[in-house]
Amino acid sequence: MRIKFYTANLCLGAKSQVMKGMVDKMKVVIRENIEKYMQDLKKWLEENKDADLEEMDKFFSDRIRAYEEHMSIWKSAYQKFAELIPPKCEMLLDLGCGTGLELDEVWAKNPDISVLGVDLCQDMLDKLVEKHSDKKLETVCADYFQYEFGKERWDAVISFESLHHFMPQEKKKLYKKIFECLKSDGKFILGDYIACCDEEEELLQKVYFEKRKKYAVPEGVFVHFDIPLTLQHEVELLKKAGFHNIEHVESIDGATILVLKK
Ligand SMILES: C[S@@+](CC[C@H](N)C(=O)[O-])C[C@H]1O[C@@H](n2cnc3c(N)ncnc32)[C@H](O)[C@@H]1O
Repeated sequence: MRIKFYTANLCLGAKSQVMKGMVDKMKVVIRENIEKYMQDLKKWLEENKDADLEEMDKFFSDRIRAYEEHMSIWKSAYQKFAELIPPKCEMLLDLGCGTGLELDEVWAKNPDISVLGVDLCQDMLDKLVEKHSDKKLETVCADYFQYEFGKERWDAVISFESLHHFMPQEKKKLYKKIFECLKSDGKFILGDYIACCDEEEELLQKVYFEKRKKYAVPEGVFVHFDIPLTLQHEVELLKKAGFHNIEHVESIDGATILVLKK
């Protein structure tokens, strides 16, 4: 049974496609059959057209019990993500860490890494702390757009399946902050839901704004609705923030991972 848990990315199967344009050289496969994927997405949006928008932290609090099982479809993506953390990494910042599914894998490889996990949802953070009370872990219940990361402080910044809830103008400022907080040889490792085509990006943004208007969501209130960017648009934003060196890109079961060197 398909449970009403997340929006499109998590409810649809994994498909892929070779990206064109400026990301051509990366040859990353996002969705295999775009036509079928878009048909399924439109059907899902139609079925859920009257679904209200839920506030971000409440959304995750309400689903905390089923969360980790639901996300287990990405076990191999989490493992690969952890493998990409530089071996010498000592100080790691995780944005939107949730219950720490990526951190489970990071610490399985290197239990000595010190982590600061930032997340809006205290219930998710409580679960993370409960699982990893023996690790060098600090958590902050905060909005990563507001929270100060410091300057040249972190060996790596990671974020998995969190940033696809935000519009490009918000992400652009965050990416600049990430660039500045990394040490000179630091890395930003991003794992996220990436739109397979312009149509997907545009359609989801359109529905997002219609729903915000319909349910009179005040400006600045974070809601849970997926608005992924295409890889091309994501990379453009990252480049504007200073990340010109893309070391690695791959897509695993619909989760796209990018490794960016400062
Ligand atoms: C899909 S979960 C991913 C959690 C974890 N990275 C994982 O892969 O299991 C998205 C997380 O991002 C957090 N989040 C969303 N917007 C945020 C923001 N502006 N600041 C901090 N955390 C945020 C949510 O509270 C949620 O825990």
